[in-house]
Amino acid sequence: MDQKIKTVLDDAKSKIESAKVVKDLEQIYIEIFGRNGLVTNLTKQIKDIKPQDRASFGQSVNSAKKEIEEYLEKKRSSLIVSRPSTPIDITAPGKKQQIGHLHLVSQAMEEIAGIFKKLGYSLQSYPEVDWDWYAFESLNMPKNHPARDDWETFFIKGDPPAGGKSYLGNLVLTPHTSNGQVREMERVKEPASPKAASRGGPPIRMINIARCYRRQIDVSHTPMFHQFEGLFIDKNVSIADLKGTFDYFTSHFFGPKRVTRLRPHHFRFTEPSFEVDVTCGVCLGKGCRICKSGWLELGGAGMVHPKVLKAGGIDPQKYNGFAFGWGIERTIAMKTELPDIRLLYQNDLRFLEQF
Ligand code: DAH
Repeated sequence: MDQKIKTVLDDAKSKIESAKVVKDLEQIYIEIFGRNGLVTNLTKQIKDIKPQDRASFGQSVNSAKKEIEEYLEKKRSSLIVSRPSTPIDITAPGKKQQIGHLHLVSQAMEEIAGIFKKLGYSLQSYPEVDWDWYAFESLNMPKNHPARDDWETFFIKGDPPAGGKSYLGNLVLTPHTSNGQVREMERVKEPASPKAASRGGPPIRMINIARCYRRQIDVSHTPMFHQFEGLFIDKNVSIADLKGTFDYFTSHFFGPKRVTRLRPHHFRFTEPSFEVDVTCGVCLGKGCRICKSGWLELGGAGMVHPKVLKAGGIDPQKYNGFAFGWGIERTIAMKTELPDIRLLYQNDLRFLEQF
């Protein structure tokens, strides 16, 4: 190879080698291939070469050119790998990690259980799929009684249990948490462990929180929902105890300005029975566009029917008490002014992240 070409090749390579970042290669390219560049000047000299040597000189210039170009590309990729073309801005604010939280329904369950715990209630858990006996019959709703229609129940096909327990009937998806009432009465009479003596029966202060199922869906109903059931059994329990308990719960859950009222109602498992209302959070009982009457309906309650106590093996001559069963989604809707409880189960983060 001609000495001139060799010199250009070496100079070009050392220029390329001196590049520290990709951008440096732009200037170096001009110095090699620009109008006055090393290679360009070499090409210009071809015409001055003796005719017999011109062809081989030209070929050598071309292969040198090719070699330089390849060298340049290699250098470019090595610089791209070793250095990011956009520098890191160490003063930019850091990326915030998203922290999750409990679902609104779980939050409410914890809060409700916490309030009743302060009144000495224990949290029990009773089946979501239960026998007809616990869901209806033991609650003074015999088979084929029209009162059952209100519960829009999902029934499960299958044979009733054998071994003398056919009184339990078939299985149902529990349409309310009241199935926990007679189960709790049974629990407090059993020994706590095989070795321990019997717990001996009442007093009972129970909260049962569970899923319930009914054939209903609209702005205030979902086919699966939650209820919390309270059961209080002792000697000489009065309606004043029931009312005091509800006012305590309401002021802690909804805020100190909210109070309750009882409206006469009918349930087969309580006598007398009530619907419990809470003052509206917007007008505090005066009546407004949202609530109209000033009151919002919380749920059912009443003094436990003697027949239910008997079904649970408790002597109604000795003991009495009250019970209540309210929807969790409903209480959330009343606290947060939620227009449609179905929003709770659509898993839309834009909604859930607000709580
Ligand atoms: N179980 C009833 C329902 O789902 C609510 C209810 C009413 C529960 C009165 C009670 C009660 O414990 O005493 O509609």
